Amino acid sequence: MSDLVNQPGTAEQMAAWGVEWRPGERLSGHTSLGVGGPTDLIRVRDYRRLPELMEYLRTRGVPWRLLGGGTNLLVVDEGLADVALQLLRDPEGMKFDGNRAEVPTAANLGTTVMECAKRNLGGMEGLIGVPGTVGGALHMNAGAYGTQIGDVVRAVTVFRGASGKVEVLRTEQVRFEYRGSSFAPDDILLAVSFELPARPYAEILERVKLCNQKRRASQPINEKSAGCIFKNPPGHSTGKMIDELGLKGTRVGGAVISERHANFIVNRHAATAADIFKLMDLIRERVLKGYGVDLEEEVIVWKN
Ligand code: EPU
Repeated sequence: MSDLVNQPGTAEQMAAWGVEWRPGERLSGHTSLGVGGPTDLIRVRDYRRLPELMEYLRTRGVPWRLLGGGTNLLVVDEGLADVALQLLRDPEGMKFDGNRAEVPTAANLGTTVMECAKRNLGGMEGLIGVPGTVGGALHMNAGAYGTQIGDVVRAVTVFRGASGKVEVLRTEQVRFEYRGSSFAPDDILLAVSFELPARPYAEILERVKLCNQKRRASQPINEKSAGCIFKNPPGHSTGKMIDELGLKGTRVGGAVISERHANFIVNRHAATAADIFKLMDLIRERVLKGYGVDLEEEVIVWKN
């Protein structure tokens, strides 16, 4: 847990700002993998409070990390000394103007794809089954079936942790790469403006259905996971390598390498983060030995 719990007046201050403060909250309840120990969770609905809140944490020397949808996150069992900060949905919601969609980053990614589709705005169909928030997807430059979210970004409104100021960054000021972006870890993304190609709703729906079918057939979408656990190294498919090594179904404690997609670790039997780390080490060693390839994590790991 963070030091915040020992700071007098914190509960009153958070309440006065309308900020939700949950000391000792287990992150297993906030991650799709269902693992992760306790930390202090701070949830902010009114983003105008961010400058004061961040200043409050900074002056007390309380470190923090940003929690999105928790769908690409592996948190250690012992919990964290850092605060987990989460933005809740901005009540103002999405706005549309011609080919532009202005979306709060706390919005669910799948919902966003469909809200755009209803207005005949396409270009994001491939992202339909990617779980999590729009903000998390931007930080990671989430991608699937030929679509990467960075490709359709026009501008991003960011609260910059370093300066405490809100800035609007144009697409030229941000670099998106394979499962990464140039945002700083203390950049809090607030809203994004997408520029999307006009397409008939029926056509978008057809593509969405196709992507859903492909995903259902090749990924364990009904089990607890964090999506692909390792990146694909250039020229290699990690899932294929793990599969060829015969590792599907390998179990450590409650964690299992999915039989449906070998680059997914699923929490099938009340796994701990430690089980998952052990299974990841096993995969890394076997792939290094078998293919001479050193795998890089795709999942974001939170440890102290
Ligand atoms: N394959 C196997 N065995 C497996 C899994 C895959 O042989 O167990 C083979 C497939 O048959 C195919 C190749 O490996 O020939 C690639 O597999 P797939 O099409 O499933 O794509 P991927 O490269 O494994 C990537 C992304 C996914 C994304 C899909 C679809 C990464 C690490 N993964 O997977 O993203 O959904 O493409 O576009 O880039 C994620 O980011 O968490 C994620 C799951």
